[in-house]
Amino acid sequence: MFVSLEGIDGCGKTTQAGLLADALGDVALRVREPGGALAAERMREILIDPDLPLDPLAELMLFCSARAQVVAEVIRPALDEGKVVVCDRFSDSTVAYQGIARGLGVDQTRQACEIATGGLWPDLTLYLEIDPEIAGTRTDGGDRFEGEGLEFQRSVADGYRLLADSEPDRIHVLDGSRPQDEVAADVLAEVEEVRRQVAER
Ligand code: TYD
Repeated sequence: MFVSLEGIDGCGKTTQAGLLADALGDVALRVREPGGALAAERMREILIDPDLPLDPLAELMLFCSARAQVVAEVIRPALDEGKVVVCDRFSDSTVAYQGIARGLGVDQTRQACEIATGGLWPDLTLYLEIDPEIAGTRTDGGDRFEGEGLEFQRSVADGYRLLADSEPDRIHVLDGSRPQDEVAADVLAEVEEVRRQVAER
């Protein structure tokens, strides 16, 4: 089974990915994006460096490149082995950040993701929704995207909402402003439910 956690910077998804992987035990494999494989981690350094000018299209392609590598090297083999892959961000990040907030377009970015992943999408995506102003107090503003400021994060949040509304079966929205353990309990319950459905298929 393949589950991704999504949200704006500071929404708490990295903490939740860790708690979920711990709760699932040995069957879980935790991956972060961009990154998760040696070459993809190198690409990550370029992608988050706020001092390195990067054209939006080059940014999109590099996110897709990093994803192609981690899918081929890590995610597909783990899914074939029957693992539960817990991904801290996946293609929905690209559609929300590059497609919507950067303005490259939903269709174009979705197509780029399809090519990069060979059409792989998560069985379940949990979007941790939070007010961008609250989330902003939880980040240090240090990377390329955090440094874009509140308006950018607002448009990423609007983007995620649009995606969640257009694919309600796959993308489930959780209130990320609640205490960590409450969010974690919901995350685990959602994953167990979809895991049962996937096993019955
Ligand atoms: P992330 O590792 O989640 O940052 P952090 O752990 O500091 O919250 O992601 C790095 C940044 O990359 C984040 O600001 C979101 C952005 N991003 C995109 O713009 N597009 C993408 O496809 C992905 C995966 C991330």
